[in-house]
Amino acid sequence: MVDKIRIQGGIPLKGRLPISGAKNAALPILAAALLTDEPLHLENVPDLADMTSMQRLLQLLGAAITFQPGDGRKLSLHVPEMLSTEAPYDLVRKMRASVLVLGPMLARMGQARVSLPGGCAIGPRPVDLHIKGLEDLGARITLERGYINAQCDGRLKGAAIRLPFPSVGATENLLMAATLAKGETVIANAAREPEIVDLAHCLLAMGARIEGIGSDTLHIQGVERLHGARHAVMADRIEAGTYVIAAAITRGDLVLEGASPELFGAADETLAAAGIELSPVEGGMRVRPVAEGLRGTDVMTQPFPGFPTDLQAQFMTLMCVADGAAMITETIFENRFMHVPELTRMGARITVHGGSALVRGVPSLMGAPVMASDLRASVSLVLAGLAAEGETTVNRIYHLDRGYERLEAKLAACGAVIERIA
Ligand code: UD1
Repeated sequence: MVDKIRIQGGIPLKGRLPISGAKNAALPILAAALLTDEPLHLENVPDLADMTSMQRLLQLLGAAITFQPGDGRKLSLHVPEMLSTEAPYDLVRKMRASVLVLGPMLARMGQARVSLPGGCAIGPRPVDLHIKGLEDLGARITLERGYINAQCDGRLKGAAIRLPFPSVGATENLLMAATLAKGETVIANAAREPEIVDLAHCLLAMGARIEGIGSDTLHIQGVERLHGARHAVMADRIEAGTYVIAAAITRGDLVLEGASPELFGAADETLAAAGIELSPVEGGMRVRPVAEGLRGTDVMTQPFPGFPTDLQAQFMTLMCVADGAAMITETIFENRFMHVPELTRMGARITVHGGSALVRGVPSLMGAPVMASDLRASVSLVLAGLAAEGETTVNRIYHLDRGYERLEAKLAACGAVIERIA
């Protein structure tokens, strides 16, 4: 059974919309529970399919987990001893972020066997930088029969690592591994995404010694053991950015609870240039109606603080109905324009040339049946449906549940006419 979402477009969104905890911060933070034999107590953990996948994997490795969904979203993880050091293909295949258990398992147990994630819809996404960095830390790694086999004698050894590209996942894996290594590790050209900062703060609470948090050079003094801790996961800036665009594209007026304009790095300049006004308010951030209308604005995806690739599809949808043209260039992933043919079916004027898409704004989109592909492409079609005239059905929406908590409920509470149909 594959669900669809049906939307009647053209209604301005109004009201308050709560932003959940960040999926991309919570995933590595859950994996960090493997670094200690004491409990890790988390708050503001989003209730998402990707979280369930990560929990299933951690349980297999020996974690006892309790989750209280209601207010506070408390999740406790406890791995008194590791029952296995293998992350099997069936789980890794479902969620690429499973590879984040590699560094922690290796650091704690001196061995790890993790299925190679393989390709996914948005491009090949190799893990060579994770592997090379762990080798720098003294691991012996072989690839066989689709698995990464990693081993080390005793503790990993601190090292100077320079990432050729600031990969988010590689930075997280190496940061976690280095916390338990012997001596100092320096990760140069590290990724600086706010989710990495959140992970680092959780590791600090667990007793890790890390300097340079938030910069492109992390200094980690390895310690012999980490302990339990409490940590509240940061707000999801991609979910927030998606609802900023939902407000703007419907000419609505939303307060996003728990979000703030600082979450966006330099991307808030792009949003401002496009005609979106964000202002901090009590308990969150307000997205104002845009008086002069939306303006075509060029954007190029970049590592943080640049414009996030995870907002590219949503921004493209916004540009479909802006005044003038916008050149949207994707530099992080190879194949991340799968939403383009679907948007075109709704009346958008988009021409793709290599990694760039030229979007010429049209006065309005028209509702249509469309097909979702990856997570962010799926939500970009929901946004298009909210703005379009008439009815849109988005098919194959299971990706949405990987990354957006209660999407229809949150939008419906702000006036959208949206329902899920089985
Ligand atoms: C994370 C996010 C994802 C986001 C991406 C970029 C999580 C769970 N996912 O993914 O939502 O879109 O950051 O902001 O946090 N690469 C290599 N070799 C490697 C690792 C990466 O070539 O070993 C390449 C990838 O193929 C890709 C680019 O580097 O083209 C960026 O990948 P990376 O920053 O690692 O993204 P993820 O951690 O997979």
